[in-house]
Amino acid sequence: MKIVLALAVTLLLIGCSEDTPTQTQAEKEITQSIDKIAKVVKEESVKISKSVEKVTQESVQTVSKKAEEVTQKTKEVTKKVLTETKEVAQKTVVAIDKALEEPKIVEEKVSIDGKALFAKCSSCHGVNADKKALNKSQSIKGWSVTKLTTAINGYKDGSYGGSMKGVMKPQINKLSDDEIKALAEYISKL
Ligand code: HEC
Repeated sequence: MKIVLALAVTLLLIGCSEDTPTQTQAEKEITQSIDKIAKVVKEESVKISKSVEKVTQESVQTVSKKAEEVTQKTKEVTKKVLTETKEVAQKTVVAIDKALEEPKIVEEKVSIDGKALFAKCSSCHGVNADKKALNKSQSIKGWSVTKLTTAINGYKDGSYGGSMKGVMKPQINKLSDDEIKALAEYISKL
């Protein structure tokens, strides 16, 4: 009988110590809370990964946009530099051409107009140089450049001429060697 009683008490005690409805409820609540937390954590991490993705995408876009801008700027600068270089080169070519042409211009300036110089001679010697000046000189038409130059230079230094050489001296006194040459060349062709 003692044993039976002891067994019954033991059973009762075991029964009491086993899951009570209250304990189950607490456990459920804990599980539910854990689930809720897990859900929130999951949602948050999804949100975070999405925003990380967004930020990454934006950064990539910004960087590639910047890279494009830099490329564009580089292109523009290169083009500008090339254009400027081309312009400078063209200007240099023009300047060189001009510099090469200049001696020609100088030559043209130096070239003396024999016809213009002969204008003041023609009043006495005739436009065709075939008149006897003041009825004294010979006709100088058909004279060679050497003969004309010798005569003119002779009047200049007094080594040439007849009785009226005094008339000729002031005519040719101020003429330069180049002018005498041009004049002689012009007269020789008349
Ligand atoms: C005012 C008139 C007059 C003018 C202008 C004149 N001459 Fe004469 N020229 C003479 C006379 C006069 C003589 C002859 C002088 C002499 O006795 O040698 C002469 C002689 C000459 C001779 C040598 C001919 C010869 O008979 O041996 C030449 C060349 C000549 N003149 C060239 C010129 C030239 C060039 C000019 C222009 C720059 C010129 N003359 C202007 C009057 C003129």
